Amino acid sequence: MQNTTTVPSRHLPSRTLGALALFGALLLPPVAANASDAREPDEVYRQVCAHCHAPQYEVGPEITIAFPEAAWEARGNYIRNTVRHGRAAMPAFRTAKISDAELDGLIQALVSGELDDAPAATGEE
Ligand code: HEC
Repeated sequence: MQNTTTVPSRHLPSRTLGALALFGALLLPPVAANASDAREPDEVYRQVCAHCHAPQYEVGPEITIAFPEAAWEARGNYIRNTVRHGRAAMPAFRTAKISDAELDGLIQALVSGELDDAPAATGEE
């Protein structure tokens, strides 16, 4: 038997499509800092972490102490997880606050002890 049913047209007038595209663009989340304007690890630490983690504030534990290289990957994963999902009293930080590239750089600097003597949050920001 021949099928005579016609498929209903799913085409929308192009003006409607244009309006939908514009609306969709407005709904996109803000683009996180891209690699070219990524902040340096010490800057991210000072702006986002130090006001809780610098020893004199005693809100969070000290996180700038170097780890042995064999533990960098595990420690790095732990830090990434903590930053992205939060931990107890520590809030989570999304990519709009710290881009993936910035977090990678920050983790490397933290586990290697590079930020161990970083100046604490200055309150200038
Ligand atoms: C609002 C204060 C606050 C800010 C800001 C903050 N933390 Fe924390 N953080 C905490 C607290 C409180 C804990 C302890 C949580 C717990 O009880 O387990 C913690 C725990 C941690 C831990 C686990 C402790 C350890 O040494 O194993 C890591 C890693 C960490 N924070 C990294 C960061 C990084 C990196 C940043 C910046 C991107 C940051 N935190 C920003 C409050 C903060």
